[in-house]
Amino acid sequence: MPTVVVAPAGQEPYDLLVERGALGALARAVGEGTGAVALVADARVFGLWGERARAALAPTHRRVVPLIFPDGEASKTRETWARLTDALVAAGVGRDGVVVGLGGGVTTDLAGFVAATYARGVPWVAAPTTLLGMVDAAVGGKTGVDLPAGKNLVGAFHHPRAVVADVDALATLGNELVDCGVAEMVKHLLVGGGGAADFAALARWRASGPAWLDDAADHVAASVAIKAAVVREDPQEAGRRAVLNLGHTVGHALERVSGYDLPHGLAVAIGLAVEARITVAAGLAPPEVAVAVAAALAALGLPARLPAGVAPAAVLAATAVDKKGLGGRARYALLAGVGRPARGPAGWTHDVPDAVVLAALEASR
Ligand SMILES: NC(=O)c1ccc[n+]([C@@H]2O[C@H](COP(=O)([O-])OP(=O)(O)OC[C@H]3O[C@@H](n4cnc5c(N)ncnc54)[C@H](O)[C@@H]3O)[C@@H](O)[C@H]2O)c1
Ligand SMILES: [Zn+2]
Repeated sequence: MPTVVVAPAGQEPYDLLVERGALGALARAVGEGTGAVALVADARVFGLWGERARAALAPTHRRVVPLIFPDGEASKTRETWARLTDALVAAGVGRDGVVVGLGGGVTTDLAGFVAATYARGVPWVAAPTTLLGMVDAAVGGKTGVDLPAGKNLVGAFHHPRAVVADVDALATLGNELVDCGVAEMVKHLLVGGGGAADFAALARWRASGPAWLDDAADHVAASVAIKAAVVREDPQEAGRRAVLNLGHTVGHALERVSGYDLPHGLAVAIGLAVEARITVAAGLAPPEVAVAVAAALAALGLPARLPAGVAPAAVLAATAVDKKGLGGRARYALLAGVGRPARGPAGWTHDVPDAVVLAALEASR
């Protein structure tokens, strides 16, 4: 089965296993023992894949405690974290317990944060069930919850013991959520040196119809390997890891302006297009880069323009809110070329004049 080794500097390396039926490897990833397994999932995913995960855990001979919460970003809060933590105590899960996060990025962020904080840290295994989770959220050790003031404002770095990505789970994923994952895969190619052939292969796979699951493992593995390479060098985002935020400064602002109606991945796709325009306007890259990004998004059927009725000035204002809680101006990860993040005087992120951002947003209506 395709395996990607994630080896963050100074941390235990761990494996990401990705293939059809990978949940069969869940017991091995968790390991035998006496401590209970807290199986964290949202209600939707538990209904679809919970029994399969539970059966896959039987060979560990551990007691399995399902911890279920309502699905959606609105659940990624301190309140859910507290409820799940209280449930662990009530179920008598000790320091020898293991947390399993079965679901999308909301679930793995929450489950990982519960694991990071429970009894000052217990091990956890990520079992991502969305494409976005497999190529991005479940890997890299960032865990946490949202605050009313902004996304992911409370959290911890806590890498999983293993990531088990069963691409069979993608069979029940809606088209829009597949698009969301593909947007992050485009981001990885833009950051990690993808050539025209890689973008074309991604588009062919996306258009391949029911057979797409057969090749999904290879595409997921290739994409996540790009993230793993960045995380290996800079596990705590002291510097270069910030390049993975490409498209996200504008993307997060679009999510906020839409009242979180616009799904994360689609917001990121638009963010990639807008930020490519910013990169050109800031003189960091030639105009062909913005053209190439727009073409890649179009070939994949991903959006590149602001949703109707969204005012550029409102998006600009929301980029500032992104960093308000952290006391700073918005900073942008930008490209020097396709596959080449731009390094500026202050490192891998850039302070861009408001007028440049506004012009790029206007041009993206
Ligand atoms: N930690 C990180 O490095 C990182 C990176 C990227 C994104 N994230 C976070 O990930 C979250 C977004 O992830 P997401 O899009 O996976 O969201 P999600 O976990 O909310 O899942 C989206 C929806 O899909 C449903 N779902 C999940 N798997 C399914 C399946 N196999 N079949 C049918 N339905 C399924 C869920 O119930 C939910 O309704 C955001 O909170 C984001 O901040 C974290
Ligand atoms: Zn993202």
